[in-house]
Amino acid sequence: MSHALPSRPRASHNAGALSGSIKVPGDKSISHRAMMFGAMALGRTSVTGLLEGEDVLATGQAMRAFGAKVEKIGDTWQIDGVGVGGFLSPQGDLDFGNAGTGVRLTMGLVGAYPFVTRFVGDASLTARPMGRVLDPLRAIGVEVVEHHDNRLPIALKGPTDPLPVDYRVPMASAQVKSCVLLAGLIIPGTTRVVEPIMTRDHTEKMLEGFGADIEVATDAEGVRTISVAGLPDLKGQELVVPGDPSSAGFPLVAGLIVPGSEIVIENVLMNPTRTGLITTLIEMGGDIAIENRRNSGGEDIADLRVKHSALKGVTVPAGRAPSMIDEYPVLAIAAAFAQGVTHMPGLDELRVKESDRLAAVARGLEANGVICEEGEDYLTVTGKGGVPGGGTVATHLDHRIAMSFLVMGLASDKPVTVDDDRMIATSFPSFQADFTRLGAGFSQSEDAA
Ligand code: S3P
Repeated sequence: MSHALPSRPRASHNAGALSGSIKVPGDKSISHRAMMFGAMALGRTSVTGLLEGEDVLATGQAMRAFGAKVEKIGDTWQIDGVGVGGFLSPQGDLDFGNAGTGVRLTMGLVGAYPFVTRFVGDASLTARPMGRVLDPLRAIGVEVVEHHDNRLPIALKGPTDPLPVDYRVPMASAQVKSCVLLAGLIIPGTTRVVEPIMTRDHTEKMLEGFGADIEVATDAEGVRTISVAGLPDLKGQELVVPGDPSSAGFPLVAGLIVPGSEIVIENVLMNPTRTGLITTLIEMGGDIAIENRRNSGGEDIADLRVKHSALKGVTVPAGRAPSMIDEYPVLAIAAAFAQGVTHMPGLDELRVKESDRLAAVARGLEANGVICEEGEDYLTVTGKGGVPGGGTVATHLDHRIAMSFLVMGLASDKPVTVDDDRMIATSFPSFQADFTRLGAGFSQSEDAA
């Protein structure tokens, strides 16, 4: 997980139209939470469709360190939990690799326990801000025994008498919201989180499914107050993880930009807190049919049929950002193939993802002959209906930068090279194999070593 091995460049090229169907891997957000909530519940949680990416497996490993049994039997992951308050003190550091969701939510899960837990990660995760979760944990009474300018490695020790908090999340972040709610589970009394801008609601929905006493009130301005009662009895569940809409973004954009393509993406999560990219691509003129809408385990899912389309530039409302925050890199690729200007405001949170994604996308576009403007919190891309390509993109240990630019190369005039494709395994291990089946052309590039 440390990715100490040398980087592995990869190039993609236009090999003609893409066709066929693809089932993207399980949703990453739901998969992390399935591992965590299963570990906290009493009894067995069975999970099918789990994302077996490195990020989620790191979370599974952490749950084992707390005493849960986590194993795969056939196609099903079985988690035998230890009950709320039942975590054991882990032996050694917890290594979360590249996973922000894994580390930030686990800090909430275990932070209030009265023993020391130490969290480490790779170079990307170590550079990311953790003050956003340490602040509310400190308010609960958690001692931050070690930190490095509020960055990893971090060691936490909970107080003997943790206090429930009322916490207003200062930025649009599902991870911060979730961290506080999860800490609240082992604190007597009611913990409240105020969320001025709605973010993905998987923690609320799934905790309710596991039997937590959780309430959500939304005021006239859309501000949500989520209250969770401490020390609930959580019970093991049977979960089916739907396909990840963030991963679906890659074949979706590929289908739109590669001439002659028609692809079906099966089993995609359609939770409205996650579908901003689909809305935006349809506004750009994308031919995307939402077929076979159905419900699975309390979530809407659908199949997406996408055909090559002439796209036009749009302005994406800033308020839509939380529902597509991980999809801006691949949207920027669609924008590069559109005609006209696509303006994407409200992107301050993109600077603190697996990489500074605003800068990484802008540099990658420039390297491939696309005109763009990088503002402090916006990106503007001037599309000319096609992309010269031929450039090499620095991925900065960021899976979504790697996948987005490999998608770009499938339709650009010259191949596009990414300097390292190893991180793709964190969220979409079958990316290259799945795209190759659709007709995509990849090669191991030598010029980017
Ligand atoms: C996630 C929340 C988002 C998102 C991340 C997954 C989650 O992060 O970018 O990929 O599962 O809660 P923020 O909470 O930092 O916005």
